[in-house]
Amino acid sequence: MEYKQLFANNRSWVEKKLKKDPEYFQKLSEGQAPKFLFIGCSDSRVPANQITGTSHGDIFVHRNIANVVVHTDMNLMSVLQYAVEVLKVKHVIVCGHYGCGGVKAAMETQYHGLIDKWLRNIKDVYRLYADELNAIKDKEARVNRLVELNVREQVYKICMTSIIQKAWQKEKSLHVHGWVYNMADGLINDLEIDVEKDFKDFAIYDYDNETLPKKDLQG
Ligand code: CO
Repeated sequence: MEYKQLFANNRSWVEKKLKKDPEYFQKLSEGQAPKFLFIGCSDSRVPANQITGTSHGDIFVHRNIANVVVHTDMNLMSVLQYAVEVLKVKHVIVCGHYGCGGVKAAMETQYHGLIDKWLRNIKDVYRLYADELNAIKDKEARVNRLVELNVREQVYKICMTSIIQKAWQKEKSLHVHGWVYNMADGLINDLEIDVEKDFKDFAIYDYDNETLPKKDLQG
């Protein structure tokens, strides 16, 4: 697609929207109240709104290569804090996609440059599940299993943040989900990660947990 075509598309999109609702943009400009935060891959084939059939104002979005959650990433953490504490989203979704190029690259031992520092986070996931992954002979199946396991680990990383831990202390109705989108058929696979069950033994991340001996934590 040519660069100038983007402006032509923009004008005709505005026209179409105004035809349906003359106040469409006026209303949207007054504020947002999305119920969902979507953390997905930067891949051009995984647009949050289109794959979920939602519209402007419905989803707060953060995307990076291979939907990785790093707790020193000021960008993602700021998005998470704003979404949870100010917008008060009800669902945080980590969405990977089968055939993810970032995950594939992380499985190689080849040098890719700066991006290897980012992909290292996915190698760390591989190491955790190396026995299971090494047992998968088909390369594509192995990539896709790591895509799922990567989403699982990133969901846990979200749960470990003080932002989510604090939110849970006040309000239990904030849900964290792990999805994998299938580019080949357009369908979303919910990994049905049971965060409550998985996290009941991880009180170490719970900052005000009265059941933990405080001095042990202070070390
Ligand atoms: Co990807």
